[in-house]
Amino acid sequence: MKKNSITTLIIAVFLCLGLSLSAQNTVEVTLTQKEDAPQISKHIYGHFAEHLGRCIYDGFYVGEDSSIPNTNGVRNDIIEALKDLKVPNLRWPGGCFADTYHWKDGIGPKEDRPTIVNQWWGGSTEDNSFGTHDFLNLCEALNAEPYLAANVGSGTVQEFAEWLQYVNHDGISPMAKLRRENGREKPWNVRIWGVGNEMWGCGGNMRPEYYADVYRKYATFMTDWTNSNALFRVASGANSEDYHWTEVLMRDIPKNLIDGVALHHYCVLDWGDKGPDKSFTDAQYFKIMQQAIKMDELITKHTAIMDKYDAEHKIALVVDEWGGWYDGEAQDKGVLYQQNTMRDAMIAGVTLNIFNNWADRVKVANLAQTVNVLQAVILTEGNKMLLTPTYHVMKMYNVHQDATLMPVSFTSPQYTLNGQSLPAVSISASYNAENEKHISLVNIDPTKEHTISIDVDALKIINVTGTVLTSSDVHDYNSFDNPSKIAPVAFKDFKLKKGKLQITVPALSVVVLEAK
Ligand code: AHR
Repeated sequence: MKKNSITTLIIAVFLCLGLSLSAQNTVEVTLTQKEDAPQISKHIYGHFAEHLGRCIYDGFYVGEDSSIPNTNGVRNDIIEALKDLKVPNLRWPGGCFADTYHWKDGIGPKEDRPTIVNQWWGGSTEDNSFGTHDFLNLCEALNAEPYLAANVGSGTVQEFAEWLQYVNHDGISPMAKLRRENGREKPWNVRIWGVGNEMWGCGGNMRPEYYADVYRKYATFMTDWTNSNALFRVASGANSEDYHWTEVLMRDIPKNLIDGVALHHYCVLDWGDKGPDKSFTDAQYFKIMQQAIKMDELITKHTAIMDKYDAEHKIALVVDEWGGWYDGEAQDKGVLYQQNTMRDAMIAGVTLNIFNNWADRVKVANLAQTVNVLQAVILTEGNKMLLTPTYHVMKMYNVHQDATLMPVSFTSPQYTLNGQSLPAVSISASYNAENEKHISLVNIDPTKEHTISIDVDALKIINVTGTVLTSSDVHDYNSFDNPSKIAPVAFKDFKLKKGKLQITVPALSVVVLEAK
């Protein structure tokens, strides 16, 4: 064979190999549009604001006399950012704080309110200037439903029942009278109520058998003053894989007394040594991704237990605390303050995809927490405020709120580190009332892009647009010096051809596509 022919042959072999390798590496995805698929409750996009560190005081609330522009003491920049996010519900006042909180301390003239010590979170002294009216009026300003977590651990049934009457009773009653004296004529009609928090721990170190009885007693006195059978009563739920907790609550609480069972799951390396928020290693990143993906296994197993007692899915799984929890490197910024990097964007994307795909069981969820605490969407420093990568993911995903789930099926390529592997790609999709389809894709692999091919032949798509959130380094974050380092930009790396939508999902990215 001549030299030229040999060269041509070698090139041809390499070309064929390259083509077949790239064909092999393309992930085939099936997407189904069905009318009877479950609706993705907008409430899985909920947030959580506890009296903890600088979440409420020096976070949301700076006081009416602050030089920072505010409405009744709440920062206007935070209100605007949360309105843009379309926050569907906001959980308050805790967390562990909830089971120490006596709501009557936080009503009436601010100068008369008692000062308390926040025993769970750093022993800070609080003057109760942010109370029930302040919180519920904030929810109205945000167009968000309040989710009140009531004190069971150190409170009384009467105190709980009176709070309900205070915020929800429209007629003549002692608590409605008190509310009116405090300047609010109409009730707020609060629908979502948590009956204690982490009753297995800070809420009273109870056994599930005991708590189930306590729950039954409290729920009995939860009067629905709206007379419309609207109350959504949430039992304090399990810690991650405590399946026994869910089993006992489902078995022992009568169905007419309960609407949701909670679940808390944090992505944490080790409760004794949570690892740094910013300078984490590759192995720590991998382990946190493992924890994020574990949410799917937790929901699968808790749902299997719930199915035994509630096959019709009348009782919701309420993941009312989730997110990444690390040791913040800046100790002076407040209790549980941590920086929010691209790692957090990955947790958010993966978790929200899991919630979307579990739309028929998970109906409410709350990211912990909104401002300056844990996986915050907003950080503040003096009069400055920034939006974290997690904020951007939550905003990109709000297109799924109340849309109909489009089930997705595919086999993910693997993200491998030190001989261990995880699915690199996660996907969820939905269609809304205008028949616009939204597809969310996450690639947690920090070094490799992945090509996806979605069969959209049956969907009659003619136009696709996209947004991407990415950065070159998983440790990247938005700082007060560079608050827009990580921000969503237009995404163009896709082709629509012959009924296939081919997308190249960049390494370490969250992509949301809109297809019409
Ligand atoms: O979100 C911080 C704390 O984590 C909450 O107060 C508690 O419920 C959980 O342990």
